[in-house]
Amino acid sequence: MDILEAMRARHSVRKYATQPIPADVREKLQQEIDACNREGQLHIQLLCDEPGAFSGAMARYGSFSGVANYIAVAGVKAEDLDERAGYYGERIVLLAQQLGLNTCWVALTFSRRKARYTLEKGEKLVLVIALGYGITQGVPHRSKTMEELCRCADPMPDWFRRGMECAMLAPTAVNQQKFLLTLEGERTVRAQAVRGPYAKLDLGIVKYHFTQGAGSENFDWAQSDIPADEE
Ligand SMILES: Cc1cc2nc3c(=O)[nH]c(=O)nc-3n(C[C@H](O)[C@H](O)[C@H](O)COP(=O)(O)O)c2cc1C
Repeated sequence: MDILEAMRARHSVRKYATQPIPADVREKLQQEIDACNREGQLHIQLLCDEPGAFSGAMARYGSFSGVANYIAVAGVKAEDLDERAGYYGERIVLLAQQLGLNTCWVALTFSRRKARYTLEKGEKLVLVIALGYGITQGVPHRSKTMEELCRCADPMPDWFRRGMECAMLAPTAVNQQKFLLTLEGERTVRAQAVRGPYAKLDLGIVKYHFTQGAGSENFDWAQSDIPADEE
């Protein structure tokens, strides 16, 4: 399964089988996590055989069952921490999908108190990603239309369309899809979040998807952070 197939196959899964993650699969995940921590200056941690964080009322409220593994996404508090957490977290999510695992990003419906992770000075836990062998593969989310999610003069370049198709497959909190991608000139893409909870996290995830579809050789990200609803 290549990364584009992984994006199409990935859906949030909340019910898991008891099957543990084999050692060689853990090892591959750990290598990717180490690379993401280096490149993204994050402190992402793989927690296996640790059912505590998903055994309380919040997890039941969120319809989770059988979650014994998760990835804790943490890093030093900074303005762009959420966006980096989204970008690199999704890179790990898509590798997990390629390795035959299922996932679900979880910001709210788990127990922060019972979660097992470590923090260094100045760090915070952003959120976790549930991980394991799903009882089902989940279902595709409903999506806003491409026209609602981007601005691009006619004719839309093929690479931009491929990027948008992947961006539309990105998971966002409560499937809010509060993002806007604008093609400025020939090859500059401005990614903006409409303000709201987890919008910056979502934007990081969306930027990772867009880059995989569009090809990083075809465009550059614009260097500006104006919220889409403030222009
Ligand atoms: C930043 C973020 C936070 C999320 N938090 C939760 C959560 O607390 N509980 C939950 O059940 N799902 C959570 N989700 C999963 C979303 O509901 C899900 O990604 C969205 O509905 C799209 O569905 P899909 O992932 O199947 O494409 C979260 C997703 C993201 C990206």
